[in-house]
Order: sequence, then structure tokens, then C-alpha cells
Amino acid sequence: MSVGKESRDGFASRFGIVCAAAGSAIGLGNIWRFPYVVGESGGGAFLLIYLGFVLLLGIPVMLSEFVIGRNAKRNAFGAFKKIAPRTLWPVVGIIGIVAAFVILAFYSTIAGWTLHYVYLSVVNGFKGADALTVTEIFVSFQTSGAFPVFWQIIFILLTAIIIISGVKKGIEKYSKILMPFLVLLLISLCIRSLTLPGSVGGLTFLFNPDFSKISSTVVLSALGQAFFSLSIGMGALITYASYFPDRTNLPVTSFQVSLADVIIAIMAGVAIFPAMFALGMLPEEGGPGLIFMVLPNVFQQMPGGYVVSIAFFVLLSIAALTSSISIMEVVVAFLTEEFGIKRPGATIITVVAAAFVGIFCTLSWSTFEHVSLGNRNIFDVLDFTASNVLLPLGGLLIVVFVGWYMKQSQVKDEMTNMGILKLMVFMIGYYTRDTRTDEDYTRIRVLKLKMFEVFLFIIRFLAPIAIAIIFLNGIGLIKSL
Ligand code: PHE
Repeated sequence: MSVGKESRDGFASRFGIVCAAAGSAIGLGNIWRFPYVVGESGGGAFLLIYLGFVLLLGIPVMLSEFVIGRNAKRNAFGAFKKIAPRTLWPVVGIIGIVAAFVILAFYSTIAGWTLHYVYLSVVNGFKGADALTVTEIFVSFQTSGAFPVFWQIIFILLTAIIIISGVKKGIEKYSKILMPFLVLLLISLCIRSLTLPGSVGGLTFLFNPDFSKISSTVVLSALGQAFFSLSIGMGALITYASYFPDRTNLPVTSFQVSLADVIIAIMAGVAIFPAMFALGMLPEEGGPGLIFMVLPNVFQQMPGGYVVSIAFFVLLSIAALTSSISIMEVVVAFLTEEFGIKRPGATIITVVAAAFVGIFCTLSWSTFEHVSLGNRNIFDVLDFTASNVLLPLGGLLIVVFVGWYMKQSQVKDEMTNMGILKLMVFMIGYYTRDTRTDEDYTRIRVLKLKMFEVFLFIIRFLAPIAIAIIFLNGIGLIKSL
């Protein structure tokens, strides 16, 4: 079964762990997917529901994945097999592996588009183009068949190269340096977008909730967006947590990663919607091409737009890469640990399989544009299946597993690092360690106890029930009953 200790790479530093986990969470989900899903789902009200889901369901699911992964120190399938031998629980791992393939397929489509936009930025392909031309450039690329496939394959190969060389020396190192740049650029994009004439409508759209736009489908897609963006529900974070050292503070890490993820998503919204309104575009019309049709216009109207455009798409590609490795790692860790296949071999198998599914997805707007289910093309079907079906289902089973199957003491030990973990410093506001009295410590302990109980309540009752209702309602099952 497992191939022994030497095959388990691991994360080196605390900062590296946060960067890797945040690197997984922050990606196309925040910058590409979030704005267009918000656009389709009516803006502010969706945003509120999404934030509520991140807080109440997302963080507990993330923490549960951390608990499973670090406890078992195995891949997503092996972890369930180890903690719950001779049960059906490992099926949850299988769902995760299926989800990984589906997500990899459509993720690499969009990441490929991003790479193409790096190229277009370098050759100054948007020079002098008006909003209409920018849209035409995008659509003709999207529907051109071979080009997007080319870039998709390049992206999958880039992911594979990093995966083969292991996590620590590749992505951990670079994401620590590059992610902060992405944040800086995003801030300057927000400022430019906000100062365009006619931008106010965008802010109103994003922040002013109009609850008449909420339907059960919209609620489900807020849940799907929360899970997708946080990388939860498919074992990516089980796999990453299996590389965490024992001293990692799991609750704090899950909190920090989620916070970073949400902030970046909102910033992306602030960069996109004001610009859209300034350009006179309708939010619900963008679809998956939204940022590719809006942002080049913003770049053109910025001083140094040429450089900013290149930098933005390069950084977005990197953000995509730090996420896609966490998706591919789910499959590769599974193949190496469960079948004893060497890392390079496992990576090649994964690449071939992912590219195969992925190509169909990329050709959704050209060769296979007539293949559809309802009014969804292949791309939409894959995205919907993964985000709104597999991730919620996986998340549900994960919390039930931690809440009901695992021993409470086991969960508690994992969350408190065998009781050693004393402080959640910034959350409770004790900044000066030396001046703490015994009384302070008692208070901290009481607070921690409450937090554990709250967590337990959420993962045992609230989260499973809420996810089940949202899911059944969203796919229309409750109504038809
Ligand atoms: N969270 C990533 C993003 O926002 C995508 C992802 C989903 C990564 C699921 C891992 C698992 O882009």
C-alpha cells in the first residue's frame, strides 16, 4: 500500500504552509470565476450569501479536511482507508479523485486562455482596440479550436513539471514571492476601475443586496462558489494537510487561508464591476469570458497599461498554477501511495487523462458547440457537476466523517496539537505573551473549549443539514417532491 516514509515530501515552514494552502485556494476561482458567477447571480445578495457560506460551512469543512489529512498523513483515499478501515468511507476519496479530473479539465481550459492573454499582452495585441474589438478578439480566440487547446496543454505540462519536482522546492518557494505581487496589482486595478467615469453602478451592483434575485439555484451556486474557491470538498486540502508538520495550528491556518481567499475575491469584484458598468456592459452577459473581455479595456486606460497587463496575466497564470498543482497532487498522491507508482509515472498518467477530458472541454465553443445538456455546453456541465454537485457532496461526507465517525478525542488532539496549542493569539486579542496571568490562560482555555464545541456542533448538525438542503433544493429535488 504505502511506499514508505521517504516518498512523503513535506512543507518546510509555517509561512510556506499558509502560502501553499492559500496558493491552492486563491486562483482562477477568485479572479475569473467569482466575478462572472456574481454577475450571473444578481450581485450583492449573492455576495452576502457566499460570505455566510464561507464562514459557517467553508471554514469548518476546511478544518475537517486538515484534521483528516494531518491525522492520517495519507492521500485523500488512503486517509479514509487508514482512519476507517474496512468501511465504505474511502469512497469519499474516490469522489474527490473524480472531482479532481473534472476540475482539472475545465480549469486548464481557462488557465490556457490566461496564458494566451500573457502572449497577447506581450505582443500588444489590444493596442487601440475599443471595447467591441476586445470582445471580438476574445470570442475569435475562444472559438478557434486548436489555439486554446495548445495553451491548455502547455498549462497542464507546466503543472506537471512542478508536480514532478515536488512541492517544497518549486511552488512553495515561488508563491511566497509572487502572491504578494498579485495583491498589489489587484489593488491598482481596483483603483483604476473605480476612477473610470460611470463606475458607480458597478459598486452598487456588487455591494447593494437585492434579495429578489435570490432563488434556490442561486443559493446552490453560492455554495458551489464558496467550496470551489476554498479548494474544499475533494481532498485537495486533505492531501496538503498530510504534508503539514505536527506543529501547524490547524484552526488558525484554516481561518487565515479563508480570509485571504475572500479578500482576493472581493478585490477581483471591485476591479471588474465598476469597469463593466463604465464600459456599458451587463453583468449577466459575460459568462466565462468576462474578465478577458473587460480587463484589457481597463489596462488600455491606465498609465503603464502595457506592463500592467503583462504582469496581471502572468500573475494570474501563477495563481492558477498554484491551484492546479493542488488538484493534480490529489491524483498523483493517490497513484503513488495506493499503487506504488513512481511520482513521474503517476504524473504522466494524470496528465494524459486530464488532457483527454480537458480537450473536449476547451472545444465546447468550437468543435463541440452543439453538444449540450439543457442549455449547458460541455464546459458548463463539467463546471456545474464539480462545483455544485461533487464538492458539496464531498464536503458533506467529510464533515459527517469528522463529526460522527472519528473519535472526538482524536479530532480534538488534532485541532489542539495534542493539547499543546495554547493560543489563538490574534483571534482573542492577547498580544503580549509574557504578561499573561494564570487567569488569562484559564480564559483562553474556556474560550478554546467553546470554540471546539461550536465547531463540533457545526460539523455534526448545521453543516450536513444545511448542505443537504441547499443541494437538494438547488437541483430542484425538494420542489419536485
Ligand atoms: N480554489 C481554487 C481556485 O479558486 C480551485 C480549486 C478547487 C483548487 C478545488 C483545488 C481544489 O482557483
